[in-house]
Amino acid sequence: MQQREEHKVIKTDLLIIGAGGSGLRAAVEAIKTGINVTIVSKSLLGKAHTVMAEGGIAASLGDVDPDDNWKVHFKDTMVEGVYLSDWRLVEKLTKEAPDRVYELEKMGALFDRTPEKKIMQRAFGAHTYRRLCHVGDKTGLELLRTLEDKILHSKNVTVMDEIFVTKLVKRDNKVIGAIALDMKSGDFIAINSKATIIAGGGCGRIYEVTSNSWESTGDGIALAFDAGAEMMDMEMMQFHPTGMVWPQGVRGLLVTEGVRGEGGLLYNSKGERFMLNYSPTKKELDARDVVARSIYKEIQEGRGTEHGGVYLDISYKGKDFIMKKLPGMYMQFKEFAGIDITKEKMEVAPTTHYYMGGIKVDSDTNSTNIEGLFAVGEAASGVHGANRLGGNSLADLLVFGKYVGESASVYVKQAKEENISEEVIVNEKERIKNFLNKEGINPYSLTEKLRKSMSENVGIAREESGLKKTLSVIEEIKKEYGKIGVDGSLKYNPGLLQCLELYNMFTVSELLVKGAILRKESRGAHFRTDFPKKDKNLLKNIVFKKNGEKLESYTFSPPEMPPHLKEILPEEKYD
Ligand code: FUM
Repeated sequence: MQQREEHKVIKTDLLIIGAGGSGLRAAVEAIKTGINVTIVSKSLLGKAHTVMAEGGIAASLGDVDPDDNWKVHFKDTMVEGVYLSDWRLVEKLTKEAPDRVYELEKMGALFDRTPEKKIMQRAFGAHTYRRLCHVGDKTGLELLRTLEDKILHSKNVTVMDEIFVTKLVKRDNKVIGAIALDMKSGDFIAINSKATIIAGGGCGRIYEVTSNSWESTGDGIALAFDAGAEMMDMEMMQFHPTGMVWPQGVRGLLVTEGVRGEGGLLYNSKGERFMLNYSPTKKELDARDVVARSIYKEIQEGRGTEHGGVYLDISYKGKDFIMKKLPGMYMQFKEFAGIDITKEKMEVAPTTHYYMGGIKVDSDTNSTNIEGLFAVGEAASGVHGANRLGGNSLADLLVFGKYVGESASVYVKQAKEENISEEVIVNEKERIKNFLNKEGINPYSLTEKLRKSMSENVGIAREESGLKKTLSVIEEIKKEYGKIGVDGSLKYNPGLLQCLELYNMFTVSELLVKGAILRKESRGAHFRTDFPKKDKNLLKNIVFKKNGEKLESYTFSPPEMPPHLKEILPEEKYD
């Protein structure tokens, strides 16, 4: 690393922004090709939202249910995505997930086993068969640990944590690197990279109640949008049916679908097992949007619990079973709520969990419409359509992490080295320093205003007037943004971080709300009370793109499916 006046300069073949599962899996693949990789992470290595996919990786190994195969997984995924997913991505996902699981096992992941020593697979909502390969209720954590282990023992890869990327730098419509702030030292870093992969996850923090930790503020998505990348399905946010509801400090914390997968039952305050009314066949294991909406309705209609949730009960399965299958949930409820789930019911309610929208990528290479820029994982869109099947996020990051690592490496090998100009660095430093030491509007209060309005009007149930109200709140926040200011320096300054994140949060929120206004129907996770039905004419992906200061949008229909896939999929029904 060479030291220039007031900032550092790094040269790398491939820059990966984000150190969750998708970023690390991409790095594992890229370093195999001999190129040099730099991973930057906003938080500490090992602390990514990947750990919140607790219940498992969806892959049709057929170890527990031998009739399972990729075709059934393909059908389940397309149906759950309400036909909006890119079938080309879904075919890859479902065909290749088993190999990626075996590969992860070879890297050292310790999956739970069947008595015959095969990989144990559990039931999850809307999966036809028991398909989730798991490690108790800590699968995401084990996946991350395994990939970290691999990365930390590899040559040609540098991991830098507590680094906040403030800007992607372009030359001639090509991304040539990024400018970042090292939050530990307060130094700016110019990172010259031949290719850049956005693997920075989603944006659950734009809502008040979320399973996402503080990192998920849509940073990678907003960076790519500002660089001119196309954004797709921005209206599609998944609300997981079960998050904790109390104590207040842990409201939203995930209660894994593994609880229902292992037999957990939902009850309202009257003791009724209400899912029998909403979904007599699949009951608690129906699709996430169906279960989340059912819980929401029970609460809205006054059959909720004291803390505004419903009950989830697995105690009837007994202590030995629960401690073996769900040890994390036992600890979580015992430590945070003083509840013993082997004896008592849990209180749960929907929580913002996963973003299906994001950066539009090419279905072969995960490249974006901007040269040198790639995206993967929750930051990318296309795989999950209008709703994601539980367990498909971990499968997604393994399958497409490998693809994007390969394709970015191919790109790197023919790309020429470029240097970010001094002028760009100086301007960016000035922009960031401008937030400091000025009397201004508090960025935290604007963030709270945004999250409150998103939760009130853009949650599980949406309608035109509420969406428009939030849009005007976002307009106000955008105006006030120019007047925010915080004390302190560039070094370890949470207030400054809030200023930077707030921009990303309202940028993504605005696109989400605009997408939700345009989609005048209900499809998957996007439920409009004023348009409660699906509309045949709206089987289209909505795309946004920045053109100078103007926002452009267009829609397109999914490409024609080839006969070998058409025959797997039942025709979509409309009433
Ligand atoms: O409920 C869960 O364990 C979450 C899994 C997922 O989002 O894939």
